[in-house]
Amino acid sequence: MFTSSYYFDSILGLGCNVSYIYAAYLLVFWFHSTLFFFCFPRCQCPSHSHTYSQAPGFSPSGKTTDYAFEMAVSNIRYGAGVTKEVGMDLQNMGATNVCLMTDKNLSQLPPVQTVMDSLVKNGINFKVYDNVRVEPTQRSFMEAIEFAKKGAFDAYVAVGGGSTMDTCKAANLYASSPHSEFLDYVSAPIGKGKPVTVPLKPLIAVPTTSGTGSETTGVAVFDYEHLKVKTGIASRAIKPTLGLIDPLHTRHMPDGVVANSGFDVLCHALESYTALPYHMRSPCPSSPIARPAYQGSNPISDIWAVHALRIVAKYLKRAVRNPDDVEARSNMHLASAFAGIGFGNAGVHLCHGMSYPISGLVKTYRAKDYNVDHPLVPHGLSVVLTSPAVFTFTAQMSPERHLETAGILGADIRTARTPDAGPILADTLRKFLFDLDVDDGLAALGYSKADIPALVKGTLPQERVTKLAPRPQSEEDLSALFEASMKLY
Ligand SMILES: NC(=O)c1ccc[n+]([C@@H]2O[C@H](COP(=O)([O-])OP(=O)(O)OC[C@H]3O[C@@H](n4cnc5c(N)ncnc54)[C@H](O)[C@@H]3O)[C@@H](O)[C@H]2O)c1
Ligand SMILES: [Zn+2]
Repeated sequence: MFTSSYYFDSILGLGCNVSYIYAAYLLVFWFHSTLFFFCFPRCQCPSHSHTYSQAPGFSPSGKTTDYAFEMAVSNIRYGAGVTKEVGMDLQNMGATNVCLMTDKNLSQLPPVQTVMDSLVKNGINFKVYDNVRVEPTQRSFMEAIEFAKKGAFDAYVAVGGGSTMDTCKAANLYASSPHSEFLDYVSAPIGKGKPVTVPLKPLIAVPTTSGTGSETTGVAVFDYEHLKVKTGIASRAIKPTLGLIDPLHTRHMPDGVVANSGFDVLCHALESYTALPYHMRSPCPSSPIARPAYQGSNPISDIWAVHALRIVAKYLKRAVRNPDDVEARSNMHLASAFAGIGFGNAGVHLCHGMSYPISGLVKTYRAKDYNVDHPLVPHGLSVVLTSPAVFTFTAQMSPERHLETAGILGADIRTARTPDAGPILADTLRKFLFDLDVDDGLAALGYSKADIPALVKGTLPQERVTKLAPRPQSEEDLSALFEASMKLY
């Protein structure tokens, strides 16, 4: 029988008392926060009074904004070699006809082989779909959906990075809802944003990057080619049933993939921690099913975001520079899931909203270490390049949080003044990126001032995330943010 502290011990993989302290901290925080919500909406104690300059508590009207948040997380199992259990899991679920999804590159690598060995050993029938597109599009989603519909599968296994896990979530959703139009479940305003009410089949996600945290989230992102921007499907119903986080898989990741997927973790943590607080988000849903997956920052997501950020600060550079640094790579694999738990419920904001046209409008850029036959701006790179400009812009809404994160990332904030929070965090991020030889801004990806109107146009429909920015932004603001991101150093 697992106790809660045992559970945390195995999740954290630290094998020391830190995990027990952490579990206790989470419980105390949860209890305190619960009291806060139900008894003391205007609590002025130190743990609540300093957080946001907008003043914590309910909106002045008290009617239109949300008053609750919900944590939805996949089950997660962590451990070196844990992938070999996947066949047993499927057997325990009673699965008899399984779809194994991956991309062409990974289909030749040990993570997929390990999964197939486990399925064979446990007598599970399966078919492989290895046509996942790296940075998927509507078309590539549709191809996977067709495969899933024809296969009439009773369970799915996704082995890969965010591209594979997201494709598999979409395949499971539309195969379970065969009469739906593709745009039915896509987030508004691009799609209809219908709530998912059909039951889905079990999906086991085996993440091989570190990473998107997609193994924990109810989100699937794709490039909507008609508009040349990314958008997504966001519903708790599509989150994987189980995430098998096996740090052995990170040994195969090329440095470029470690760096870019690590920047994604960095931005998930920073954006979810600085997002609009959940009780300032409107409208208040009329039914729990209408409460979005991305709800705004909240006390539970905050814990995961800050914890993930500390790991990024400690291990990302090491993980990129030395493939044999098992400790660094394993910790980044966990940080990806931690940040996923945070942003999967709090959401992300401007770096992500602005990244979608940066990826979608790619011209000829080819990223180092990405074994694909098409131009591509890796997701993590597309989010991190605007981060100095974005956090300079948002800092005035919660300067303490911006300063705190700069401190975690290595800045000396002992004598810092709150009005300088934005520039301090921005400089810290620039230094972090420079140390890792990251391209010098959007110009290095082939963008120029002439592209800014198209980049802004592609950001405007990203309300699912841009509305979670703590500071509202006009088209002029977005133009200025893109312009400031053309060159970083
Ligand atoms: N659903 C979510 O919550 C969420 C969150 C963030 C990003 N995303 C999406 O995820 C996608 C990006 O995913 P990603 O960054 O994980 O990368 P990815 O899935 O796009 O893979 C990138 C490349 O790395 C290779 N690769 C992956 N793991 C490897 C390994 N262990 N060894 C060797 N090669 C490996 C892949 O074959 C591919 O060529 C984007 O489409 C992004 O929008 C989704
Ligand atoms: Zn991301």
